[in-house]
Amino acid sequence: TELDLVIRGGRIATAADVFDADIGIRGGRIVALGHDLGAASEEIDATGKLVLPGGVDAHCHFDQPSSDGSVMADDFDSGPRSAAFGGTTTVIPFACQQKGQTLRAAVDDYHRRADGKSVIDYAFHLIVTDPTPQVLGQELPALIREGYTSFKIYTTYDDLKLNDRQIIEVLALAKREGALTMIHAENSDAIAWLTEALEQAGQTAPRFHADARPAIAEREATHRAISLAEIVDVPMLVVHVSGGEAMDQIAAARAKGLRVFAETCPQYILLTADDLDLDGFEGAKHICSPPPRDTASQQSVWRGLANGTFQVFSSDHAPFKFDSATGKKLCGDGASFTHVPNGIPGVETRLPLLFSEGVGKGRISLNQFVALTATNPARLYGLYPRKGTIAVGADADIAIWDAEREVTIRNELLHHNVDYTPYEGRTITGWPEIVLSRGKTVVRGERLYAESGRGQFLECGAPDTLI
Ligand code: URP
Ligand code: ZN
Ligand code: ZN
Ligand code: ZN
Repeated sequence: TELDLVIRGGRIATAADVFDADIGIRGGRIVALGHDLGAASEEIDATGKLVLPGGVDAHCHFDQPSSDGSVMADDFDSGPRSAAFGGTTTVIPFACQQKGQTLRAAVDDYHRRADGKSVIDYAFHLIVTDPTPQVLGQELPALIREGYTSFKIYTTYDDLKLNDRQIIEVLALAKREGALTMIHAENSDAIAWLTEALEQAGQTAPRFHADARPAIAEREATHRAISLAEIVDVPMLVVHVSGGEAMDQIAAARAKGLRVFAETCPQYILLTADDLDLDGFEGAKHICSPPPRDTASQQSVWRGLANGTFQVFSSDHAPFKFDSATGKKLCGDGASFTHVPNGIPGVETRLPLLFSEGVGKGRISLNQFVALTATNPARLYGLYPRKGTIAVGADADIAIWDAEREVTIRNELLHHNVDYTPYEGRTITGWPEIVLSRGKTVVRGERLYAESGRGQFLECGAPDTLI
């Protein structure tokens, strides 16, 4: 029978290969790769274009309430839409348990938030903040079997953090049930002590956020988390790694043969702590945790992207408006950095930034780009080979890139609901021009062609930790 769509004349890149072929699509899936694929009801001419798997953003926050009352600017409508405009076709945001809440209630809550909203497919990681015997004994094993096969835990933030015993219990459960634990590694007590000292000295401008959360605190917690995973003998992934100190711990563990995986994000290759030093309260726009470090750290992170220390490149999109009663400016000019919600937006700019700065500047190969942004997260989080690659049988989640297009990033060009981008004014080369989700054109140029709510919830399978 006739194809629904053929993408002709493009240059396809996967995590392994670069080759020229047409793509035949039927029923939302890729059914043929090659030439002379025959008649199709619709055709896209991709001559001169790169044809890549749509991105999988495995770390983004949408519509996630915080204990301080700050409200995220992106929900499951605007967040995934913004992702799609940046070449991403699958998002894995978080369903966050509040202390005292059952995990089941958290999952139900986030499904209500997401239902009927997302324009692209989505899965959930859980955030486990209250690992009660009930959660560990019944709820979490059941949820893992229902397709929530990864969860994040924290070593910092009073309302989220677990102690070492709790971390061990969660890791042991992940081992028993075949799930993947993601860990936010920063030493909470050291940060609290440093923060108090800074506040007592009146050093509360945004810049001091970086001094309160030094690389040593990240290094220590990374080392400790790895040790706990080693004791339990289970794979683990360290999220949003900011620089060489934590990376050294991860690389040493990997050299010993431990299955420790690591993620980094655009802010750690493009920003530094000096970006927290901008006039007035502007620096607050760049407050995230861990904070961006220095140019040497940026170089370390680039090395880690190139040499395999990192498997995953995610946005950690955490969307708070700058000029809003509920956003970054919560307490007005001169307020303490301790009152600024942590996190910065970046779900739409993630792929173009890494493409331009990484592939364009010869720091990583096109195959590494695809692996870091699509294939590896799909494999680690149990969505492969349906997502994360271009292959017969995979979903037709495809981004057709104009690798030559120059774009100066302006917030007004972006589709998130945040009133700034940390990358304002940067000129980059390469942008996705057409984005398909299960064979349907979602984005073409400046236009959106798909409806909110067409995205499907994805049940994740077993994590592949043999990547
Ligand atoms: O500052 C950050 N990264 N906020 C988002 C939450 C998290 O810890 O990933
Ligand atoms: Zn985190
Ligand atoms: Zn995050
Ligand atoms: Zn305040």
